[in-house]
Amino acid sequence: MICGLSGGIDSATVAVLIHRAIQDRLTCIYVDNGLMRKRETEEIVRTFKKHFKINLEVVDAKDRFLERLRGIADPEEKRKVIGDEFIRVFDEAATRIRDVDFLAQGTIYPDRVESAATSDLASRIKSHHNVGALPEEMLLRLIEPIRDLYKDEVRAVAKKLNLPENVVKRHPFPGPGLAARIIGAVTLDKLRICRDAGAIVEEELKTAGFYDKTWQAFAMVGDDLATGVLGDERSFGHIVIIRAVESVEAMTADFAKLPYDLLEKISSRITNEISGVTWVAYAISSKPPSTIEPC
Ligand code: XMP
Repeated sequence: MICGLSGGIDSATVAVLIHRAIQDRLTCIYVDNGLMRKRETEEIVRTFKKHFKINLEVVDAKDRFLERLRGIADPEEKRKVIGDEFIRVFDEAATRIRDVDFLAQGTIYPDRVESAATSDLASRIKSHHNVGALPEEMLLRLIEPIRDLYKDEVRAVAKKLNLPENVVKRHPFPGPGLAARIIGAVTLDKLRICRDAGAIVEEELKTAGFYDKTWQAFAMVGDDLATGVLGDERSFGHIVIIRAVESVEAMTADFAKLPYDLLEKISSRITNEISGVTWVAYAISSKPPSTIEPC
């Protein structure tokens, strides 16, 4: 069996559960799709090697994901392409490893609800990459042991399994990665801005003691440009939008009432440290009517 590992709590919990049952017959596959957070790949490999004795393969698939995403602006189309490419990578890994029949995934209940996979009556909010965005033809059979759990319940299971704190407490990250936070087409420039700004948000929230009090906090970027001043010169750059929310299971969420001085620090660091950004805005809508991720 192979298990798609993203570094997040859902897939890590599934990996540890399955490893307890079948030991070395499990190989985890971590796909670096080029859409990950800053230093994510290094951190995942380090955490995994330090805490678990599970076979882990890292697949560098940055170029192929970014190539397939080139020019695609529609959010659902981006999700379909990403879900499809993940399965291609897993199928290839299964052929390489041999005798693999199953793919384990960290799908949880809200992924299925939002992808409208729980009933014919549910309406599709977003095709989660691991549910609604999967290709129709798949070589591997899916195993989803936590498919009926909400995130807070997964956290309880993870704690029982002694998963490390940095995995249990890490903010959730969507399967389509930064593509869910880049409005419009994914470009290298928007990826750089989104990734660097997201890292600043995380850092400042941790320093101010707000990271553990929020469900998710990140930066997003689109194609709209706004005027700024750099020295005495006019500049024209990207608008970065910060989103921080409080939630219990992500089905509903409130925007986090972060202190103004923290927002000011984040804004000043983003405009000073990241080239090509002139404005920073804070998202003040809750879910519903908004979703947590913009795409
Ligand atoms: P939204 O943006 O729909 O997200 O309010 C609800 C929660 O789900 C995460 N999310 C995903 N997780 N695959 C995942 O595994 C996905 O395709 C996906 N899309 C959104 C999101 O980060 C939030 O915590």
